[in-house]
Amino acid sequence: GSIEEMSIPLYYGWFLLSSIQDKVRCTSMDFLKTLDTLEAFKKHLIDFTGKAEKEVDLEQYFEAKGTLHCTTKFCNYGKVEGAKEYAQNKAVGDFYGSAFELSLSALFVTPRTVGARVSLSEEQLLLWPADAEKEAGPASLPPGSRAHVTLGCAEGVEPVQTGLDLLEILALQQGGQQGELIEEMELGSLTYYGEGRWLLSLREPIGALACFSSFYG
Ligand code: A2P
Repeated sequence: GSIEEMSIPLYYGWFLLSSIQDKVRCTSMDFLKTLDTLEAFKKHLIDFTGKAEKEVDLEQYFEAKGTLHCTTKFCNYGKVEGAKEYAQNKAVGDFYGSAFELSLSALFVTPRTVGARVSLSEEQLLLWPADAEKEAGPASLPPGSRAHVTLGCAEGVEPVQTGLDLLEILALQQGGQQGELIEEMELGSLTYYGEGRWLLSLREPIGALACFSSFYG
């Protein structure tokens, strides 16, 4: 490839500061630790294990994947549609290297991934690509719906799955499925959406300082 292609990263995103990464990891571990002890979770264990009687330790079930970040645009060094246009976007140039405060508003768990939903501000949405929600199927979700931090993936699952799992839950909500309110936990309210999909809406969103930058790998 040319120098021009080389200058486009694997992905752009907000990278959480290391102290806040620790905090988010701890919160997520606490949640997983509590979730797999709940009777309601045990009732639906088969979603995770394939067998009703088997136990699962969610802290072991998911593998962490590197630095915590919220991907804005996956570019694959310019090979992805819209990658060059994104890299040349004025907002991307202007905000590159700037600090932001992301609002982590929910945690979600599926048999494939665990992640944190990010609620983007108007300014943050300037960095959000227009086509990010196109994989939501027939649902039309507002820009920014897919924004998330991948916290862990089950064995053999790629991190791209986390955003797809979030879109799936939001599409269910939009389609009128309210989910089953399981209980009010200390961290917030826990809802079950079937097929192993759990959402914890945080009572107090986590404010996470993050730097808008890119990753080359
Ligand atoms: P995510 O943003 O959900 O964490 P990989 O290590 O597989 O190359 O991925 C690098 C990062 O880019 C990860 O953060 C990953 O998922 C994200 N990512 C990978 N593929 C895609 C894709 N097709 N669309 C959007 N994001 C992607």
